[in-house]
Amino acid sequence: MADDEALVGGMVNTGAVFRRGALVERPAPRTARALHAHLLALEERGFDAAPTPVLLTADGRERLTFVPGDVALPPFPRWAMTRTALRSVGSLLRRLHEASAAIAVDTSAEWPRDLADPEGGTMLCHNDVCPENVVFRDGRAAALIDFDLAAPGRPLWDVAMTARYWVPMLDPGSATALHPAGLDAPARLRILADGYGLSPQDRTELPGVIEQATASCRAFVAGRVADGDPAYTRALAGQGGWQRWDRIQEWLVTHHEKFTTALLE
Ligand SMILES: Nc1ncnc2c1ncn2[C@@H]1O[C@H](COP(=O)(O)OP(=O)(O)O)[C@@H](O)[C@H]1O
Ligand SMILES: [Mg+2]
Repeated sequence: MADDEALVGGMVNTGAVFRRGALVERPAPRTARALHAHLLALEERGFDAAPTPVLLTADGRERLTFVPGDVALPPFPRWAMTRTALRSVGSLLRRLHEASAAIAVDTSAEWPRDLADPEGGTMLCHNDVCPENVVFRDGRAAALIDFDLAAPGRPLWDVAMTARYWVPMLDPGSATALHPAGLDAPARLRILADGYGLSPQDRTELPGVIEQATASCRAFVAGRVADGDPAYTRALAGQGGWQRWDRIQEWLVTHHEKFTTALLE
């Protein structure tokens, strides 16, 4: 349709997400039926920071409300990486979790395993809170979009995934490829945890869960590359291949104590 506007930002549905006035049309994930019910339940619980599902088409597409605001795309601009932005991402994730924890997970749905918590859980996590999936207004996170990878897990798993993307939990050499230079990872991890209101117990576990989440992300990329996905294959090669993943994991392990101290002091 001539009045469709292609929306860019993701890697999975590149070229297949369109805005049509107040609505977005995109390929429906396999779990769309259960996911739409979950999004409506979130709304009933007062969580107003996600798109409202409107329709599932017979040909496997979905329509949701378009959320006005700004989405940061790589290379990530400074406005998306301020301390205020980071704190607001933490508090938005906490709001999502408080609403989500009160909703029974549909156990008949085939939730994706891709970036899901290997330990499972009783709450539906988002699992993919990357900058491209957060809508900002006035410099603060206003809504989460793209729940395609939502799956049951521990809330802490979602915090760890979010930290990977937003701190970011990358060695400085890897971080500067897409993020502004000079971001202080331990200090920023603390800001995210404070924004979320993370408990002392979860703070002691967070650095280890980030290492676990990083391994899951690597396995996710490996799976896509093994399947011959061109976007993931290109991105992997462009970012320096598996050596980059080795470097990130080594950096996480080396600085584990530093992160724990920053979180708890
Ligand atoms: N409901 C929405 N409201 C506002 N922007 C959206 C919405 N859905 C998608 N977008 C925009 O389109 C981009 C790609 O959509 P997304 O659903 O995240 O695709 P992908 O599955 O490929 O990641 C997002 O990064 C965002 O900029
Ligand atoms: Mg996306």
